[in-house]
Amino acid sequence: MSRDKVTSEQVLACKGRQRVGVLTAYDYPMARLLDEAGVPVLLVGDSLGMVVLGFPDTTHVTMAHMVHHVQAVARARPAALIGADLPFGSYVTPETALTHARDLRAAGADFVKAEGGVEILPQVQAILSAGIPFCGHLGMLPQHVLEEGGKYRIKGRDDAGRQRLLQDAAALESAGAFACVLELVTPPVAQEITAACRRMVTIGIGSGSGCDGQVLVTPDLVGGFPWFTPRFVTPRTQTGEAIREAVRSWLGSLP
Ligand code: KIV
Repeated sequence: MSRDKVTSEQVLACKGRQRVGVLTAYDYPMARLLDEAGVPVLLVGDSLGMVVLGFPDTTHVTMAHMVHHVQAVARARPAALIGADLPFGSYVTPETALTHARDLRAAGADFVKAEGGVEILPQVQAILSAGIPFCGHLGMLPQHVLEEGGKYRIKGRDDAGRQRLLQDAAALESAGAFACVLELVTPPVAQEITAACRRMVTIGIGSGSGCDGQVLVTPDLVGGFPWFTPRFVTPRTQTGEAIREAVRSWLGSLP
């Protein structure tokens, strides 16, 4: 049975009522499978740089990569809301942020996501003023991993970090972001942001259970990238191994 298209307003209305499940999708078949399973939000994350394209981190992902994968996901015509990451270097100014957000919308995204808080507020305002729904991303910012010495560090551990996160979240909420990913934020701070922001849903990843929703990189959830699994994920199945076994079995039974 087909579902009605999910809207960003409906996702926001889940606040305090219903947990929001978000999974990444990078291609047509996975978008269809996740949509058929009832996932309300699909994110074409720039994590595709690692789990699809084989780069060491997300800083190698370009607008051309993003557009290609957003188009593939959009071709599945999911009822799920489709989000797309603005990739590294694509939102340095409000003008470039808006141009690239429009390109992602034209490719089929329903909303865009970018990493950062107060420092990217003019870019966020430009995107929202053009009527494009926006999702923030605070905490560990993968596009800044090289500045962090290549380490994915937990955020909000000290009071200065906690204050900064609260300020950034409040700024994004006031600008009109309907959602914000909280990545590797200490669970008490993630919970505090969730309680403080009444007009923005928080979507946690590695930030504990106190967020309004959770997001996972789908290959992590289904064992599709078996060479690395984040500590906070327990795969629900092992598709990578299932593929190896199916292929070995076929090779061993060639006529
Ligand atoms: O790129 C991505 O997939 C993401 C999620 C992990 C939130 O940003």
